[in-house]
Amino acid sequence: MFGRKRVAAAAAVALACVAGTALAVDPPKLGQRAPADLLALMDKSIPPDGTGLPPGQGTPVQGQAVFLEKCAVCHGPRGEGLTNDRLVGGEGTLTQEITAKTVGSFWPYATTLFDYIRRAMPYDAPTSLKDDEVYATAAYILALNGIIKETDTLNAETLMKVKMPNADGFINQWVEPAPKAAAR
Ligand code: HEC
Repeated sequence: MFGRKRVAAAAAVALACVAGTALAVDPPKLGQRAPADLLALMDKSIPPDGTGLPPGQGTPVQGQAVFLEKCAVCHGPRGEGLTNDRLVGGEGTLTQEITAKTVGSFWPYATTLFDYIRRAMPYDAPTSLKDDEVYATAAYILALNGIIKETDTLNAETLMKVKMPNADGFINQWVEPAPKAAAR
């Protein structure tokens, strides 16, 4: 059992920590219009059809260099998974009891791989990659999965042509117009 004094001391330290954190963190600025540069950083999603893919390009070889420097620490040097998700392999496991949902086995589109990496990775520094680096790391991951060749170049045009192995494994529930809300 903790003595009462010790609990009180611990509570005081915890409170001090919380207060310290609260002071250090920037408040959310609710009610203020987001500045244009922040909006431009966030508002650039790429849908499955590739609309809005930016200029730029990258090869698997270029991507390997970026990947080893900025991604391998979490995903392993060849995307085999380390502290975080495995990105490579796993084909044919989706129907098994233990699935390996990787970019190669699970993702239906390559365009959204670009979108995801550009917006969310590296996990510890999202939106820090140049578009060329995003094309290149996507190319490296796709080449490791055997989906493109090591000699291929990814850009807006070629990325849209990549057919993913699990492209037909999803049901698009948005194809039909959404049913009208029932009258009340
Ligand atoms: C600090 C660790 C870390 C680093 C560095 C990192 N990632 Fe990730 N990555 C993660 C985590 C965590 C997730 C899962 C995020 C989630 O599910 O919300 C993830 C998920 C992913 C996924 C999706 C996996 C899937 O199938 O769901 C891809 C693709 C990916 N990362 C690519 C990259 C690339 C490319 C880089 C380097 C530019 C990178 N990551 C760097 C931690 C990291």
